[in-house]
Amino acid sequence: MPDIKAQNCTITLDGNNYEFPVIIGTEGEKAIDISKLRDTTGYVTLDIGYKNTGATKSAITFLDGELGILRHRGYSIEDLAEKANFLEVAYLLLRGELPNKEQFEDFDNSVRHHTLVNEDLQNIFKTFPTGSHPMGQLIAMISSLSAYYPKALDPNRSAEAKSRTVLRLLAKMPTICAMIYKKRLGHPVVYPSNNLDYVSNFLNMTFKHVSDSDYQPDPVVVDAMNKLLILHADHEQNCSASTVRLVGSSQANLYATIAAGVAALWGPLHGGANQEVLEMLELIKADGGNVQKWVDKAKDKNDSFRLMGFGHRVYKNFDPRAKIIKKTCDDVLNKLGINDPVLEIAKKLEEAALTDSYFVERKLYPNVDFYSGIIYRAIGFPTEMFTALFALGRLPGWIAQWQEMAEEKQPIGRPRQIYTGQMPRTFIPRGERK
Ligand code: SDX
Repeated sequence: MPDIKAQNCTITLDGNNYEFPVIIGTEGEKAIDISKLRDTTGYVTLDIGYKNTGATKSAITFLDGELGILRHRGYSIEDLAEKANFLEVAYLLLRGELPNKEQFEDFDNSVRHHTLVNEDLQNIFKTFPTGSHPMGQLIAMISSLSAYYPKALDPNRSAEAKSRTVLRLLAKMPTICAMIYKKRLGHPVVYPSNNLDYVSNFLNMTFKHVSDSDYQPDPVVVDAMNKLLILHADHEQNCSASTVRLVGSSQANLYATIAAGVAALWGPLHGGANQEVLEMLELIKADGGNVQKWVDKAKDKNDSFRLMGFGHRVYKNFDPRAKIIKKTCDDVLNKLGINDPVLEIAKKLEEAALTDSYFVERKLYPNVDFYSGIIYRAIGFPTEMFTALFALGRLPGWIAQWQEMAEEKQPIGRPRQIYTGQMPRTFIPRGERK
């Protein structure tokens, strides 16, 4: 990790002065290192929601929320989305450098030869009620991989064994997502094909019918899917990545750790928002398309309605990913000849919110989830699959965050608290209680 310059700060507590190191990151971010705060002062900090707390140093992703900047290993998200493919970005996140031709071919070939899942996984699918949510199935299926690769349970597994588990996850996630889609339709699964690239293989497993011998993924869709997966690939210490780091810090196996990340992503305030956005847009459309009414509801503190796909903990400017997705949305719908009325509603909603003082004052802008669902739907995915597609994109980011934590041998994560409950009490036997 690049050198980090240091200086000190002084905190005065109970009349005593305490010195703590200040560290400055490569992009000029500053932090007070309070690793020794409790040992030296007896105090802990309190920061509910970790809005001001850095959990780690990291060299993977840089965000600047004020300027709307996102970079992976120094490369801008705009360049990566425009010029790279998803597997290249996965390699970059995991190994720190973009692969050269040979390195990419070797990585791509390794992934292609791990795409099959054990046939017994089909039996697990049989236990899910028809129509059960894809995210619940995805959590179960990823966790079940630990049953088929028991050696991955060994926390002291070799680097080679860890690398094989990483490959298996990257390779099998598209297969599992496609199986979830097929099972929802009651259709037979389509097996992975080793002569297709990562995204084409995923689209082929998903949309090819077993009886349809000449299905070819549309290049427009392949390009859009690569872009969407890249835009979701990592986002530093978001809720699900922090979950992966925390679960992984207990040395739980990587399958269980990633399943925990998928679980955290499911929440409507996090990755689940992309499904909520589409449902919200459909609701507004069904309600006659009066966007101002819904903007007003979102502002009303007595109304639980929120403008899904708007606002972000870090971005207080446009989410750079939302800008790219909005443009991709227009391109894909035009090229596919699709006129989706909810796209017009989304644009009107964005325009109404961005000129409304409530949203402007709170710096609430469209985030990555605001437009993505419109493209997923144009490609043919049902709304309930959207968050599973977010997880498919985020997988290499989660693994890179876990890998960085594990390689630095970070301690098990165990936050402190401030107790506000009862003082000591005498136990009264049940028969004597009033
Ligand atoms: C993702 O962290 C990441 O990087 C996540 C992510 C990633 O790539 O991993 O970027 C992916 O999760 C994107 C966010 C998707 N979620 C949504 O779109 C759900 C809707 N947005 C929110 O609920 C909210 O904006 C959050 C959860 C995203 C951020 O919440 P914060 O930072 O805790 O902010 P907050 O809830 O305290 O809101 C601050 C103010 C409040 O008003 P006041 O109390 O100041 O009067 O803004 C208001 C909120 O009521 N507000 C909204 C709003 N979002 C915030 N009001 C209406 N509609 C909204 N969407």
